[in-house]
Amino acid sequence: MYSFLLITFCSASALASSINSPCKVTDSSCMEIFLNTVQKEIVNGIPELGIMKSDPLFIETIEGNLSILKYKLFNSTLVGFKGCVISNLKINKDITNLKYDLNCPRLSLKGKYEISGRLVVLPIEGKGDYQSVAEKYLVHVESDLKKIEGADGKTHLSIENIIIKCIPQDIISYNFENLFNGQKKLSSEVHKFAYENWREVAELVQDPIWYSLYNNITGSMNKYLLSVAFEDVIRN
Ligand SMILES: *[C@@H]1O[C@H](CO)[C@@H](O)[C@H](O)[C@H]1NC(C)=O
Ligand SMILES: *[C@@H]1O[C@H](CO)[C@@H](O)[C@H](O)[C@H]1NC(C)=O
Ligand SMILES: *[C@@H]1O[C@H](CO)[C@@H](O)[C@H](O)[C@H]1NC(C)=O
Repeated sequence: MYSFLLITFCSASALASSINSPCKVTDSSCMEIFLNTVQKEIVNGIPELGIMKSDPLFIETIEGNLSILKYKLFNSTLVGFKGCVISNLKINKDITNLKYDLNCPRLSLKGKYEISGRLVVLPIEGKGDYQSVAEKYLVHVESDLKKIEGADGKTHLSIENIIIKCIPQDIISYNFENLFNGQKKLSSEVHKFAYENWREVAELVQDPIWYSLYNNITGSMNKYLLSVAFEDVIRN
């Protein structure tokens, strides 16, 4: 009984802070405000719902298995997701598909790396500490929306099958310590190349990183959605 009350109370309080009235599915600007508010709350963490703060976000492992390049990032910390804003939101009439753009002003990622292969055209090899700063990112996000029945017997929305398309809008800097076992000349060639060809390099390496981030954020988003009934979020 106590835990039931607690859950009800928590859902109600999470709900109260982000929803003034359910949005009509055709009312994109209402949905956009709703999703931006939810995203902000999620990023700050909602301990009552088991949602941990996601700025900074710790990501244990990111693995990039690309045809010409293999990399692993360990114990990475991403800072800046707080600044990302949702726009151009579209939900179809059946409420089965969600699309929006995410604009992120400045994101930084640091941790440990292992890399080997080719960075576009240059050989790259190394292991050590890394840091990367992206000044401006645009991400097109598309996903399915599923209606599921929660433990409370109510219908809830769930975000599934996320597809993202990331478009770097401005310079991305990289610092890989200890490339080529510390051989300075080879290392500075790679850094110079990555600096001068930031867009091409980003297009090569970015997807596994963004998917790791997005899987995590979506996990939190879905925990949140389980706490609010479908009809409190969207009306037809
Ligand atoms: C990457 O490739 C390695 C070795 O082929 C495999 O063990 C690993 O599961 C792959 N990781 C991903 C994320 O696909
Ligand atoms: C990541 O952090 C864990 C826990 O602190 C540590 O055991 C592990 O060695 C770290 N991984 C790397 C590659 O440094
Ligand atoms: C998100 O990341 C946090 C911190 O690394 C982790 O505790 C949590 O389980 C992750 N959530 C998902 C859904 O992967």
